[in-house]
Amino acid sequence: MAIDHTRAPVLEALADYRREGRLSFTPPGHKQARGADPAVREVLGDAVFLGDVLATGGLDDRLTRDRVLQRAQELMADAVHADHTFFSTCGSSLSVKAAMLAVAGPHEKLLIGRDAHKSVVSGLVLSGIEPVWVEPRWDAERHLAHPPSAAEYEAAFAAHPDARGALVTSPTPYGAGADLRAVAEVCHRRGRPLIVDEAWGAHLPFHPDLPSWAMDAGADICVTSIHKMGSGLEQGSVFHLQGDLVEPGLLGMRADLLSTTSPSALIYAGLDGWRRQMALRGQEIMGGALELAAETRAAIEEIDGMHVNDRADFCGPGLADGFDPLPVVIDLDGLGVSGYQAADWLRERRGVVAHLTDHRRIGAQITHGDDRETTGELLAALKELAHAAPGLPDAPRVAVPSPAELRMEQVRLPRDAFFGPAEDVPLERAAGRIAAEMITPYPPGIPAVLPGERLTEPVLRYLTSGRDAGMFLPDPSDPALGTVRVAAGDAG
Ligand SMILES: Cc1ncc(COP(=O)(O)O)c(C=O)c1O
Repeated sequence: MAIDHTRAPVLEALADYRREGRLSFTPPGHKQARGADPAVREVLGDAVFLGDVLATGGLDDRLTRDRVLQRAQELMADAVHADHTFFSTCGSSLSVKAAMLAVAGPHEKLLIGRDAHKSVVSGLVLSGIEPVWVEPRWDAERHLAHPPSAAEYEAAFAAHPDARGALVTSPTPYGAGADLRAVAEVCHRRGRPLIVDEAWGAHLPFHPDLPSWAMDAGADICVTSIHKMGSGLEQGSVFHLQGDLVEPGLLGMRADLLSTTSPSALIYAGLDGWRRQMALRGQEIMGGALELAAETRAAIEEIDGMHVNDRADFCGPGLADGFDPLPVVIDLDGLGVSGYQAADWLRERRGVVAHLTDHRRIGAQITHGDDRETTGELLAALKELAHAAPGLPDAPRVAVPSPAELRMEQVRLPRDAFFGPAEDVPLERAAGRIAAEMITPYPPGIPAVLPGERLTEPVLRYLTSGRDAGMFLPDPSDPALGTVRVAAGDAG
């Protein structure tokens, strides 16, 4: 049957639900907004409640005979060149765990770039998979990690031929890409699947000037947050599958373990609508975003003290292989302010919210949702920031370790360290102990410490100096880092 991308099964089913005036005696209890607190209705608007219907037995019938979700997923798979697509309403945090669980089981090995997101580490903790860490490519001057090379995956497979597959994050939240085709070839030579955490790549399939898309590059599973670079609502994520190394039924079963039985029809609708928008007009829309990003990058580069990281900074021998220009990463080293100070100033003084923040950078993500008005506001705010910077306190120094110092030894399975007996020790006595928790600077969300690693002074110094400089650490048991949770009875 010919694929018709003008259709949007979830949106159509929602419209039918309203048009037919269906009366539900099921969740959600707000009953099409009627029961919701008027003050809540005023802030959220009734559209949120009207679109919030039960998926099975609401959007579709009791036995899902209209195949509403299935049809929407099939259309998405076609639009992004996958064999199968699965929608998730629990973010890529769920999708990436489902992908991992479909490839490896408890005590089996998975090769993983150490620049993985904290959701991957949670997947290790829950599953008992043994990570074989693959070294990212470090830019020691800029203190930035780019995805590992194919050669690093090759070496890791040679050392661990029993590994069940590999996982690579590409693009990174900074916009740096891996050579996915080469990494996929490394995996496929051994008959092993490649998972790509492409949470930041929802837009990639839709314009030839963007870095290569995992499905086109031959990956087996790829995970994408449609809410990050696409038009989906927060938590809207998809994962795609192709080839015969992972069985679709098994991937669905593993996802089912983690999923909710009450998926949000609103989130499904956002995914469905994004696919239609992109399938019909993706290249034109993304072309506009690329043009706008290029203009904005050039204009920011003109601001004294600011430097926009470009392809020449990120790509080349020993660095990344691909580059997405939409995350506009601005190095503030020349201004003498930290990313944390800059982000706070922009939000408080100009109402402009930056995305990434680290000790020397802020990121401003440009998407197809921007236009010259929004980028004009951004530019004006950045110029004012440059003007105000000399009056800001000196940026507190963050003791960023060298790449070699940043890596700690994984001495215990993440699951065993996380669930085993643990104790909280004062930070000064934590070096040499085995971490029993994750400690993650956020964003971008790559754990500096993960369960089972033996803690070292340089990493603890990095975190405490980062904390003092304004780094956000959402996950340690003591966010102030007065104490650290470590495996009990292991005094180093
Ligand atoms: C690389 C990467 N993978 C996975 C995730 C999790 O995505 P989500 O926020 O959709 O759960 C993120 C979120 O920031 C991410 O940066």
